[in-house]
Amino acid sequence: MKVLRVGIIGATGMVGRRFVSLLEHHPWFEIAALAAGPRSEGMSYGAALASRGEDCPAYAADMQLLNAWDAAAISGMVDMVFCAVNIPRADAQRLEESYARCECPVVSNNSACRSLPDVPVVIPEVNAWHLDVIPQQRRRLGTKHGFIAAKCNCSIQSSLPPLAAARGLGLKRAYVATYQAVSGAGRTLSSFPDIHDNVIPFIPGEDEKSETEPKKILGMVSDEGIVPETDVEFFSRCVRVPVSDGHTAAVFAEFEHEVDADRLKALWSDYGRLDLPSAPERFIRIFDEPDRPQPALDRYTGNGMSVCIGGIRQIHPHGVSFIGLSHNTVRGAAGGAVLLAEMLANKGFFD
Ligand SMILES: NC(=O)c1ccc[n+]([C@@H]2O[C@H](COP(=O)([O-])OP(=O)(O)OC[C@H]3O[C@@H](n4cnc5c(N)ncnc54)[C@H](OP(=O)(O)O)[C@@H]3O)[C@@H](O)[C@H]2O)c1
Repeated sequence: MKVLRVGIIGATGMVGRRFVSLLEHHPWFEIAALAAGPRSEGMSYGAALASRGEDCPAYAADMQLLNAWDAAAISGMVDMVFCAVNIPRADAQRLEESYARCECPVVSNNSACRSLPDVPVVIPEVNAWHLDVIPQQRRRLGTKHGFIAAKCNCSIQSSLPPLAAARGLGLKRAYVATYQAVSGAGRTLSSFPDIHDNVIPFIPGEDEKSETEPKKILGMVSDEGIVPETDVEFFSRCVRVPVSDGHTAAVFAEFEHEVDADRLKALWSDYGRLDLPSAPERFIRIFDEPDRPQPALDRYTGNGMSVCIGGIRQIHPHGVSFIGLSHNTVRGAAGGAVLLAEMLANKGFFD
């Protein structure tokens, strides 16, 4: 594989910094441009992070930050960009489409374009076939090469892969309660005093996204873009908890037919193996200990790229419950996006 030059748009943010650390020794991608908001333009990456009290990997410290909105110039420096910015939805869509229209592919962590029928939202192990919609998107945008592909919302990363794996057994409905880390809000425990000794039972927009995105990810590609799944229902409540990194989910899954928890376990332990540099050896890692997985102990399983499952319990003949966990800024954000970019590179989308 030829080494590709990549840009990180939103490099100073929580997710952007994770990209920079994950790509340091990447065999296929090398960082050729770092960009952030107008306040950071012209600063060295090291100085910008130091001014916010953040450490910077030495290899990237001297790179000069570009203005994220300068899509024409940045597109000329790179083969593709990763995008993770904290700006209003309409602006994020405009920003991402400006790169795509400059014929620069975008792998996005933002929610802005995820609901568009011709933008694939891909968990590489789960719905790689959704990349087939990209030619439709290129026709809408009037591009030959540029497009946007998104990774999913971090809130569904801990629950959807095992549910998707079980779909062939007649999955009908899933009730999911999430316990989400503060880094998911771009915060740390020390910069979020309200979370101490507390849970916050509301994350704006998160319940809705967690109910609609799984249907899109399980949907089919048609001539009108991706048609969401209608046979499976998802109900979700998302809660912020005092954990630094790692989103936990309590899941109750109901099936059309009788289902056996042991059969599910066997299915999950073999599900979703990929031969890509960032793919974990095991996508779904099953814990038999009753008090696992825990964010503090298990979020870095498979270098933060595995989904951890435990507490698997038959709740009735048609139902199983389990606890899921994934690292929200690795698998749920930058790592998941890097894996998606590896899949796109492997399939020739950046050629
Ligand atoms: N944190 C997570 O676990 C997680 C998981 C999945 C997805 N996401 C998504 O990833 C995106 C970034 O999240 P984050 O937590 O990394 O946010 P963040 O820490 O607030 O970082 C935001 C980035 O956006 C840049 N930015 C701010 N204003 C801008 C503007 N007007 N124009 C261009 N760039 C601007 C910032 O640059 P400056 O420093 O120059 O202001 C910074 O680089 C969001 O869409 C979020 O929903 C986050």
